Amino acid sequence: MTLHLVDDHDAATARVTALVSHVIRETPSLVLGLPTGRTPMALYAALAAARLDWSRVRTFNLDEFSTLAPEHPGSFRAFMDEHLFRHVNLAPASIGFLRGDAADLAAECGRYEAAMADAGGIDLLLVGLGGNGHIGFNEPGEFLHAETHVVPLHESTRRANAERFGGDWRAVPASALTMGMRQVLSARRVVMMATGASKADAVAAMLDGPLTTRCPASWLQAHPDVTFVIDRAASARRPG
Ligand code: GLP
Repeated sequence: MTLHLVDDHDAATARVTALVSHVIRETPSLVLGLPTGRTPMALYAALAAARLDWSRVRTFNLDEFSTLAPEHPGSFRAFMDEHLFRHVNLAPASIGFLRGDAADLAAECGRYEAAMADAGGIDLLLVGLGGNGHIGFNEPGEFLHAETHVVPLHESTRRANAERFGGDWRAVPASALTMGMRQVLSARRVVMMATGASKADAVAAMLDGPLTTRCPASWLQAHPDVTFVIDRAASARRPG
């Protein structure tokens, strides 16, 4: 485990931008797993400005809201188009995404698993941290799922995502599709970025607590090649 404690969100963004840029230059055919959320927005802007060659890169996003078509402005696909995909030379066919509007969501999860396996698995997975310790949309609870699956969203998660739904958390879909813990833990390298005071409890549980389904991100402690990039505010509740 590598832990980079940095001053603030800008420093975290700079650190992860440098890391991802380096990996894309070293491995042009990278299979890259991607998160959405406020945390990676500046990262995506910096990567878009870095003039990297994405022509051979393949991507798989972690998750998507159930029911939403890719064109829906609240969808994670629309988020990614807006913040990254339309700004880089990534081939449209190389963008892996769960379809929230698929008629058969279980079949859609199976299709996604097969697509990731066909790509040879994920080389580098970037992840963010839910304020409740979720990773992707693997929510805290009594159990976790290994495979890509449909998951009901906690109210806190819907509230945290309300911004893209006119600020109305009830307009946020009540369920989502997400990669499971197996996909997260079988990525060859994982980079977790967490910044800001709202993540402080989850960061303490993730880094210093036991591995528990109550904090899905705590399972990253068991990953053989994980890098945490955490800012001062997010590390404020760590013991000692
Ligand atoms: C979202 C996403 C996660 C993301 C997390 C944190 O709901 N499903 O993949 O990492 O919540 O989001 P933010 O970066 O906005 O705090």
